[in-house]
Amino acid sequence: MSILITNIKQLLQARATNVLKVTGSDMKKLPLIENAYLLIEHDTIVEYGEMKDMGDTVAETVIDATGKIVMPAWCDSHTHLVYAGNREQEFVDRINGLSYEDIANRGGGILNSAENLAKATEDELYDQAVSRLKAVMEMGTGAIEIKSGYGLTTETELKMLRVIKRIKQDFNVFVKATFLGAHAVPKAFKDDKTAYVDEIINTMLPKIEQEQLAHYIDVFCEKGYFSLDDTERILQAGVKHGLTPKIHVNQFNAFGGVALGVKYNALSVDHLEVMNPEDIAALKGSNTMPVALPSCSYFLSIPYTPARAIIDAGLPLALATDYNPGSTPSGNMNFVVSTACIKMKMTPEEAINAATINGAYAMGISNMYGSITRGKKANVIITKTIPSYNYLPYAFGDNHIDKVIINGSLLS
Ligand code: NIG
Ligand code: FE
Repeated sequence: MSILITNIKQLLQARATNVLKVTGSDMKKLPLIENAYLLIEHDTIVEYGEMKDMGDTVAETVIDATGKIVMPAWCDSHTHLVYAGNREQEFVDRINGLSYEDIANRGGGILNSAENLAKATEDELYDQAVSRLKAVMEMGTGAIEIKSGYGLTTETELKMLRVIKRIKQDFNVFVKATFLGAHAVPKAFKDDKTAYVDEIINTMLPKIEQEQLAHYIDVFCEKGYFSLDDTERILQAGVKHGLTPKIHVNQFNAFGGVALGVKYNALSVDHLEVMNPEDIAALKGSNTMPVALPSCSYFLSIPYTPARAIIDAGLPLALATDYNPGSTPSGNMNFVVSTACIKMKMTPEEAINAATINGAYAMGISNMYGSITRGKKANVIITKTIPSYNYLPYAFGDNHIDKVIINGSLLS
């Protein structure tokens, strides 16, 4: 199977050298080739360059991309795509004046989703997740991280992770699984959070390792959820079971979660709506990717991650959706990229870097995904006819995607 894309108006993120992330002022640079071609064989990018250098290259399928832009598919490094039902009533309750915190305090929020998930069979959960996954693939997502965390019992957390494993086997989109048992304290443990943390450490983690169900360990490190001490215990245990930390921090309060993540060499620290200078300082010189989730800020009307302060401090930044029923019922990376430009003052180049190569880094796959580089997996978006790449974030809310190729296969 080979695909040749010709007459590409702009081939974005074409990098001859396999960079693993882009950082600070380099994020403003988006390498591109005008009037380009791209050759895919099987699931791999084998060649690309200017049309004038294409020679007599042939392929089974030829796509004429005159007037169109070709770029790497989005790498969505933070989702909770596996969940049951929805929380539209809480959405209306928030419009009528309740806060996200009020809703959680009365037993709603994550615990509401946990109740729905407990009632759903594994097949029902799978079917719901698959329909969301297919929709986000159509919107250009070619690699995705998916978390557990709406189970909150050993049995239901494993059920979620097994659904993620099935998705991984059944789809050619690249999937990484994260164990987020510490997403909220379940009702049964409401007066004994330590016992729940013990359950995560002593019962859930060994089973997850045994069945090889996750790559990453996540914790919602936040007031009213899990403290720094809880987070540290869980990260230590996760690491012992072979998992890499990748954590929720600084969504509502900044109290040292970023530095803790860095201490445990977290692959990423995500949310960061509230950032102190100490948090930025902690990230400097680390391998930890800060990840912003602008759709969550949009939906909950909370502050946006201070992208300018982060990037201008010389740090990298990735963008992801946070697709989940409570704070972000959308898996649309195109909206994320637009919102990052409009609300976080990221340039289109920065936002595209953040949603491709840096997103790939935040899920540990930037050696294989996130740029147009020879030998990398053929995950690409072909846009409709648009004037330039600036138009993608500019004309927000419209679908600019014509075709998506995932691991060398054209989505039909
Ligand atoms: O990343 N903040 C914690 N977890 C999710 C939201 C969970 C929910 O409300 O269901 C998030 O925003
Ligand atoms: Fe999240």
